[in-house]
Amino acid sequence: MALIWKRKSLIATALIVVVSLLVVMVNYSGKPYLLLEPVFGQTPDKAFKPHQGYVSLVKEEPLKLHCDLCSIVSSSGQMLGQAIGAEIDSYPCVMRMNNAPTLGFEEDVGRRTTLRVVSHTSVPQLVQKSEHFFGENNDTIYVVWGPLRNMRKDGKGVVYNMLLKVLEKYPSARIYIHTDERMNYCDMVFKKETGKDRLKSGTYLSTGWFTLILAMDMCKEIKIYGMINDTYCKSKDYRKVPYHYYETGRRDECTEYHLHENAPRGAHRFVTEKSVFAKWAKVHPIKFLNPSWQLS
Ligand SMILES: *[C@@H]1O[C@H](CO)[C@@H](O)[C@H](O)[C@H]1NC(C)=O
Ligand SMILES: *[C@@H]1O[C@H](CO)[C@@H](O)[C@H](O)[C@H]1NC(C)=O
Repeated sequence: MALIWKRKSLIATALIVVVSLLVVMVNYSGKPYLLLEPVFGQTPDKAFKPHQGYVSLVKEEPLKLHCDLCSIVSSSGQMLGQAIGAEIDSYPCVMRMNNAPTLGFEEDVGRRTTLRVVSHTSVPQLVQKSEHFFGENNDTIYVVWGPLRNMRKDGKGVVYNMLLKVLEKYPSARIYIHTDERMNYCDMVFKKETGKDRLKSGTYLSTGWFTLILAMDMCKEIKIYGMINDTYCKSKDYRKVPYHYYETGRRDECTEYHLHENAPRGAHRFVTEKSVFAKWAKVHPIKFLNPSWQLS
């Protein structure tokens, strides 16, 4: 009897050792690029720590949002006519960017919004529709990014001041901002991934860049809808769509991408960013759909 018990506990111990080794191996092999150090893909208890890179307005409480599965809805005209709103809404967390509307586009883009990553330049558009964004949608978390000159807290940060006013009027609004350290971190990731200094190369990071970095820390698995890949605009018969699904009549997406990629200064590098995203998607559970990316 005692012998059987000993054997059983021996087998159990062996199993525990083997499983632990496997976990360690998987953890190591999953991280060749090390840049997105923080919590993504690590042990659950670590992943459920509040994130110090995003803090609430005034109270400066770190953001606590974690999701097993997130959908990210691109603002691209690619969303038009896709009829994937219901699929998008089926994810525990739905992320959108800037002021991209759901009203009137529900069938294609869905209606739920867990979190919006918002550029400092889009804050005025949100403020124009304060009642919609901060009153009716008071569940939504807004995470604003912007340069220090607009986000400073000493009374001279124009965008920061706008956000303070919103909070006065809508005290339950869930507004967070990227900390200075987080902004620098996002620049540093750009430099590490592209070899180019963001400022010296005249580059503005896009809201998509900040959204993916945030999502990789918050979500175990990510599905991204409506984002084109880095070669899309060179492919034959690509779909010519508006740059934003909610702004028809402006330049089409590929023309806009081309202008930005080739402008010497003060421009987004959408194509470069997409090639970096493809790299990340090889080591993190990220899938690109509508149009889908083939990642080996
Ligand atoms: C939050 O939004 C809901 C539904 O839109 C509304 O009924 C409620 O009054 C709002 N709460 C606050 C505190 O504004
Ligand atoms: C990029 O998009 C084009 C057009 O949809 C497609 O033909 C190509 O296979 C895609 N490349 C990758 C790597 O996903």
